[in-house]
Amino acid sequence: MSKKRVGLALTGSFCTFEQSLEAAKTLIAEGWEVTPIFSENAYSTDTRFGRAKEWVDTFESLTGNKCIHNLVQAEPIGPHKLLDLILIAPCTGNTLAKLAYGITDTCVTMSAKSHLRNGGPVLLAVSTNDALGGSAKNIGMLLNYRNLYFVPMKQDAPDIKPRSVVSDFSRIPKAANAALEGKQLQPIFL
Ligand SMILES: Cc1cc2nc3c(=O)[nH]c(=O)nc-3n(C[C@H](O)[C@H](O)[C@H](O)COP(=O)(O)O)c2cc1C
Repeated sequence: MSKKRVGLALTGSFCTFEQSLEAAKTLIAEGWEVTPIFSENAYSTDTRFGRAKEWVDTFESLTGNKCIHNLVQAEPIGPHKLLDLILIAPCTGNTLAKLAYGITDTCVTMSAKSHLRNGGPVLLAVSTNDALGGSAKNIGMLLNYRNLYFVPMKQDAPDIKPRSVVSDFSRIPKAANAALEGKQLQPIFL
């Protein structure tokens, strides 16, 4: 049987890159072909959570695939049916807003748009401090969109960050298989 192909898109929630890496390892162990996709910010920003180039190198060497990191590289995903699933993990508040409002000015939103063109599934692993604030309306809109799914999520630190929500990255493989079948893994909120 041919491998299931996932585009694993990282956006600029740098503190969760390590969790995304662990999810990528599990997906590969379960037989997925993983192609990394880095938002322009993720691709170019060095932070206290690591140097951008080192993250890119780590994901490329783990997956054996070059990463997609600009609009031109992302555009053929739909027309050439390159992937079965787009997984945005982590998905920032910024990218949630763009997806909700149809703004396609990053390689991650371009990848999603290109894949949605064919009715392909897009799975979001939210990681943002304002999920229950400024991003709440965007999450609400996206919950109502066809072919968009969420990795189950929860408030990660309600006492110190009362509006913050992060997906449970350990549930990515189950959520990915469900999304491929057109289903939302439940419960969405943990
Ligand atoms: C160190 C650091 C950590 C960040 N963590 C988050 C985060 O967890 N969630 C989030 O939504 N934005 C976070 N941001 C802000 C995003 O990186 C910023 O909104 C950026 O424009 C996102 O672009 P992208 O969605 O295209 O990757 C962080 C920024 C920095 C510098």
